[in-house]
Amino acid sequence: MTRVFNFSAGPAMLPRPVMEKAQQEFLDYNNLGASVIEISHRSKEFDAIINQADVLLTELASIPENYKILYVHGGAQMQFSAVPLNLINRLPARKAVYIESGNFAKLAKKEATRYGSITTAATSEASNYDRIPDFDAASVDPETSYIHITSNNTIYGTRWQQFPDTGDIPLVADMTSELLSRKIDVSQFGIIYAGLQKNLGPAGLACVIIREDLLAHALPETPNLLNYKTYAEKHSLANTNNTFAIYMMKLVLEWLRDSGGIGAIEARNESKAALLYDVIDNSDFYLGTTQTAHRSIMNVTFNLANNDLLDEFLSQALANGLYALKGHRYVGGARASIYNAMPREGCQALADFMQEFEKSHA
Ligand SMILES: Cc1ncc(COP(=O)(O)O)c(C=O)c1O
Repeated sequence: MTRVFNFSAGPAMLPRPVMEKAQQEFLDYNNLGASVIEISHRSKEFDAIINQADVLLTELASIPENYKILYVHGGAQMQFSAVPLNLINRLPARKAVYIESGNFAKLAKKEATRYGSITTAATSEASNYDRIPDFDAASVDPETSYIHITSNNTIYGTRWQQFPDTGDIPLVADMTSELLSRKIDVSQFGIIYAGLQKNLGPAGLACVIIREDLLAHALPETPNLLNYKTYAEKHSLANTNNTFAIYMMKLVLEWLRDSGGIGAIEARNESKAALLYDVIDNSDFYLGTTQTAHRSIMNVTFNLANNDLLDEFLSQALANGLYALKGHRYVGGARASIYNAMPREGCQALADFMQEFEKSHA
């Protein structure tokens, strides 16, 4: 069997040891004679899995005691609805502020407009989201229920290098494409959420980290299974949750711990991204699509100066075992998604391929 270096933006590659462990114990979990996907979400075996996931995530992300971890149905976009449903009512003005740094940020804002008075405080749409827009949190009305950002913009390849200090207004961050890839001070945020499918596990489930005092504001019409309080009170098991995704996430967290934790993975991620950005920066053949100061270390986006060569670039890359490098249609060009699970060798192989392709086509 040959496995490719998989640069898919999501669902994305998972660490090989995680996939192997899941395969090993798939038919027979813990000598039960049954698979982890065949046992009750209320069994003691599953209880141990979800508890271990909580403990590992708390340790890895240094989550303070006054936060809860929730495993919420529906992936990241479902949180575009859940966040306003749970938080817009924090203050009677029902106002929220969104920073539009990309398409998902825009979609999150659009969904929120169903529930209150939503404004965009900053946007980089005019430059096709090639940067994080300037934002002055001091200019926001203190009667605002929350401020929403997308910390890493998967499609465009940008990220917030530093997060805004929003004072008493809770900062909410969609960290789908970067949670656990770099050190974050969780106490800066009211809510962090992430779909699992990039750095944490399979698609369809979101991990939500929420400050406890924010659990009390849901709009009365909030569906029970979108109410974060339901998840907090029932340890995310009010109904049958996606047990397999939680189990996979637990394996990913164990792998992260065994890989040296977030500090080590962040250093590795930076050096992986640098391999690719160095090729781009030292060439007129490749053009980065983002402002240098705003670059992501998870999604590296670039064009070929001669766009006519793009199809050949992508097909030769694939023939060399470099899979899923086509850029998103909103940007074009190429995109290498290099989440935690991408080994350094994958980035080195891509960097080498890019240089060779340039030499033979310059
Ligand atoms: C930053 C960000 N937010 C939200 C989403 C949407 O996630 P989902 O498909 O799980 O709803 C994605 C998916 O790629 C994403 O990258």
